[in-house]
Amino acid sequence: MRATNPPRVVLVTGASSGIGEALVRKAAVRGDHVVLVARGREALERVAEECRGLGAASATVATADVSDDEQVAAAVATAVARHGRLDTVVSCAGVVAYGQIADVPAEVFDQVVATNLLGPVNLARHVLPVLREQDAGSLVLVGSIIGHIGVPDMAAYVISKWGVRGLLRQLRVDNRDRPGVRFGYVAPGGVDTPIYRQAATYGDAVGRPPFPVTTPERIADRVLAAADHPWRGGQVGIANEVIRFGFTALPLVYDRLVGPLFKLAAQDLVAPVVHGPGNVLASRQEHNGLRGGHPNALLGVGANLVELGRRRLRGS
Ligand SMILES: NC(=O)c1ccc[n+]([C@@H]2O[C@H](COP(=O)([O-])OP(=O)(O)OC[C@H]3O[C@@H](n4cnc5c(N)ncnc54)[C@H](OP(=O)(O)O)[C@@H]3O)[C@@H](O)[C@H]2O)c1
Repeated sequence: MRATNPPRVVLVTGASSGIGEALVRKAAVRGDHVVLVARGREALERVAEECRGLGAASATVATADVSDDEQVAAAVATAVARHGRLDTVVSCAGVVAYGQIADVPAEVFDQVVATNLLGPVNLARHVLPVLREQDAGSLVLVGSIIGHIGVPDMAAYVISKWGVRGLLRQLRVDNRDRPGVRFGYVAPGGVDTPIYRQAATYGDAVGRPPFPVTTPERIADRVLAAADHPWRGGQVGIANEVIRFGFTALPLVYDRLVGPLFKLAAQDLVAPVVHGPGNVLASRQEHNGLRGGHPNALLGVGANLVELGRRRLRGS
């Protein structure tokens, strides 16, 4: 008789929305134990209930702000106390702020870096002792194409995601003595999730996912593949490679074009702009969800072109 593997223990930060939600749903369908981490409890409970319905061996909610080391320690301890081990850990929690450095309030700027960069550091600090003791399991960091390039009005996010790449390499260097522990990395481009409408906004337009927009489920598949085989991670989509090539090989052309192209493809010039911190400083869990309502990026580009034409006619 063939022995069946026991269900895996999968811990995901940012599990109450977008890519993190897609991840725990996929793990649930596999029959894994899922541990869901984010700040807002109600949204986590909603997704946990769905995971149970999808076939999860169990679904545990552990509220934590990933930028708070003690809260991350407690969430990891909860998972280990319940299951006795960790198989796949994914750092997925993330937030965005739009605006020039001088216009984004310092506490908002700092919290973007604390969430996106110090969050995975805190996670690594508490899961590594477990993974190293097991000499097995994987930690996957969700980065971004924006961790490889520069774009207008996103300094905090750019810096944080470049830092995530540094962290990945450092983790690999520091843990070479545990060959059973794997470190994965996935860099999405535009994904249809609520993160754009949840962003802090201090510029003159709201953000939207750039063309070509993919689904959170597709990114989740890549993350789970990278957990088992780190070489299956990396950039998601050929567009990321083209943009990286332009940034690296043609810096003068890139720096000249990125402003107008970003405005056209990665901003919504029609939507009203309301300045504020979005979900950066505190959860706005009522706005979390699997999808963000941006299914067709080309329609968005078309609407932006019409709006730019109108502005030109008005002379503004
Ligand atoms: N969507 C894209 O186009 C895209 C592209 C490239 C990379 N990414 C990356 O993919 C990851 C997931 O993004 P997404 O688009 O799925 O975003 P999302 O739908 O807005 O989900 C973000 C998740 O992170 C949680 N979160 C935010 N701040 C937190 C904190 N301080 N502590 C703990 N949890 C926190 C949120 O819940 P609470 O607010 O309740 O805590 C939510 O569960 C992020 O790292 C993002 O940078 C996204």
